[in-house]
Amino acid sequence: MSRAKRIAVIPGDGIGKEVTPEGVKVLESACAVTGQELSFNYFDWGADRFLKDGTTLPADAPQMLQRDFDVILFGAVGDPRVPLNQHAADILLGLRFKLDLYVNARPCALFDRRLTPLRDRSEQDVNFIVFRENTEGAYAGVGGNFKQGTADEVAVQEDVNTRKGVERIIRYALDYARRKGLKRVCMSDKSNAMTYGHGLWQRVWKEMKEEYKEVETRHLFVDTLMMELVRDPSQFQAIVTCNMFGDIASDLGAQLSGGLGLAPSGNIHPGKVSLFEPIHGSAPNIAGKNAANPMGSALAGAMMLEYLELEREAELIRDAARAAVREKKTTVDLGGQLGTREAGDWIAERISKRGLAGAGA
Ligand SMILES: NC(=O)c1ccc[n+]([C@@H]2O[C@H](COP(=O)([O-])OP(=O)(O)OC[C@H]3O[C@@H](n4cnc5c(N)ncnc54)[C@H](O)[C@@H]3O)[C@@H](O)[C@H]2O)c1
Repeated sequence: MSRAKRIAVIPGDGIGKEVTPEGVKVLESACAVTGQELSFNYFDWGADRFLKDGTTLPADAPQMLQRDFDVILFGAVGDPRVPLNQHAADILLGLRFKLDLYVNARPCALFDRRLTPLRDRSEQDVNFIVFRENTEGAYAGVGGNFKQGTADEVAVQEDVNTRKGVERIIRYALDYARRKGLKRVCMSDKSNAMTYGHGLWQRVWKEMKEEYKEVETRHLFVDTLMMELVRDPSQFQAIVTCNMFGDIASDLGAQLSGGLGLAPSGNIHPGKVSLFEPIHGSAPNIAGKNAANPMGSALAGAMMLEYLELEREAELIRDAARAAVREKKTTVDLGGQLGTREAGDWIAERISKRGLAGAGA
């Protein structure tokens, strides 16, 4: 048996504090089946802590996480009591940038055809993964305002693209396709309009795809990608793109595959401590009501286990989540009647039962 996997847990704000315990419960249940040990350490970074003593992300946090943990399970941050949500940007963007988590992986897999808003589409038609560059692009925070508040105001927001940044995300997507036996990878940019920054994406893509002859590679401008994703999502298996377009494409993908409540994501730096989270925010409108869907957190846990090469445990979680959707043992957003805790319990118990059945077989 391999040693205990060390997991840092950051529940954050709002429903992050409700769904994360369910994610932990489900992880424990899956690992109990195989005997894999997990250790959890909790960090209270979020709005309550910020309002109490001004702490957002402690200065030594990135080094400490890198040193003492294998992975991070994150909830969500954002609280209406904090002006401009400064704490949230410090914590989440701080972790993404300071841990150099350059891959944002967002699987979009439809578990049950009744959950997609597309007509006549089935589980086979919506099953792709978006790889979003996660450390630069338009979200690098480079820019400024000039003559702010006047009629002559100028606002500049730079789109930062480095060769290193573009190369490593494209390589990650192509390697992933090779590893998983996927046939098709689509790179998307807007190089017809953003000729300098996205011209770099074009050049790198053309060079790099030559190394992956077994993968069918395709390029689409991002506006065409959006149309094609809605018209026929079955064309896509993996999409790689910049920070902003990946943000948008993956939210569209989340809706095509059942909504925010069940969409997970991984913020990854291969070989280093990486962070897994549901893609939804802190949802202040439903926080504290035991109404939030915990499935995004549970499936983020499955991604985390896969990252730790615990494939069997990850599949146990995905199987149980699929069963919950099929049998409507879910929260209201997916057509069920369960509360957050009860939906988490159902998934955890399903996993235990499968584990017992497996042991007896
Ligand atoms: N990664 C993050 O931490 C993250 C991501 C997005 C937004 N935010 C922050 O969260 C706060 C709220 O943002 P928002 O309202 O735009 O987005 P949101 O994702 O929190 O909520 C959008 C809508 O989806 C619903 N929803 C979200 N998650 C759900 C779940 N698990 N189950 C059922 N319904 C769910 C909400 O009730 C709401 O109606 C803001 O402060 C925002 O900055 C944080």
